[in-house]
Amino acid sequence: MPFLDELTNTAEQIDALLDRLMPLDTAPAKRVIDAMRYASIGQGKRLRPFLVCESAKLFDVEDTHALRTGAALECIHCYSLVHDDLPAMDNDELRRGKPTTHIAFDEAAAILAGDGLLTFAFEILAHPDTHPDPVVRSKLVSELAIASGPAGMVGGQMLDLEAEARESHDLDEIITLQGMKTGALFRFACESGALLAQAGDAERSALSVYADRVGLAFQIADDILDQESTPEQLGKQTQKDAEAGKATFIDLLGLDGAKKRAHALVDEACASLDAFGNRAGILREAALFIVERKN
Ligand code: IPE
Ligand code: IPE
Ligand code: MG
Ligand code: MG
Ligand code: MG
Repeated sequence: MPFLDELTNTAEQIDALLDRLMPLDTAPAKRVIDAMRYASIGQGKRLRPFLVCESAKLFDVEDTHALRTGAALECIHCYSLVHDDLPAMDNDELRRGKPTTHIAFDEAAAILAGDGLLTFAFEILAHPDTHPDPVVRSKLVSELAIASGPAGMVGGQMLDLEAEARESHDLDEIITLQGMKTGALFRFACESGALLAQAGDAERSALSVYADRVGLAFQIADDILDQESTPEQLGKQTQKDAEAGKATFIDLLGLDGAKKRAHALVDEACASLDAFGNRAGILREAALFIVERKN
């Protein structure tokens, strides 16, 4: 199947699963479920769940296990977007081609929808349908908590906001910040395939190197699209990072330098998969897609 069809196929399965896992009809607090569904179902590239599913395929993990793990990760990602868009953070009104959650609902509902998606992610992982072995489930829970928390995404978001106040940024600072705010969830995505399969350390660390390079390349592409794309194409506001004083690779390397860096990272990501041979072909395509995407 061509790469984009594979990606769409996973996106549809994730959508269907989230729809089933978050029913509105039976919810006592309908407004928060409504806002959680608004923030998570219907759009989004579903790249992180796709990486979960594709890394899991390397080890013949059951589809349901990979999809549920991908859905949990997507809940964390969607929560991070809802909070990222709040007035206290990036103050954005457009996300995935529609009004951000705090605009469509209100700030309190958006905060609670984010909180709801965050906690729901762990409910999904802890359920026996995600994996029959409680040791595997507990490992997934702790790894996702680490990736999402102060040593990962949340910490990176803090550094991102703090960096706005500083005049200049250096490369090490940007690599650390972006590795935490974006890279950590990519790392969980790629390593979770190995965790679900209880694969060996060598395989897990090869996927970790791949994820590290791809995560950084992904955020560089996001920063380039902020400069070069339009809200119509991207489904979110553009031209915002420079004005806000965000610490980005473009800041330091310029647009051309950032593009070269992103492609060099893709090469490194692909090389890290050598041990998997042809079986990792789709992960190599994913790395290229991540830097060449238009939205
Ligand atoms: C946007 O992520 C947030 C960043 C980490 C830069 P995506 O570009 O994956 O957003 P969706 O899920 O496709 O909307
Ligand atoms: C956000 O990065 C990363 C998150 C952890 C949500 P950005 O602020 O650059 O993401 P966009 O551009 O708003 O999607
Ligand atoms: Mg942000
Ligand atoms: Mg933002
Ligand atoms: Mg951005």
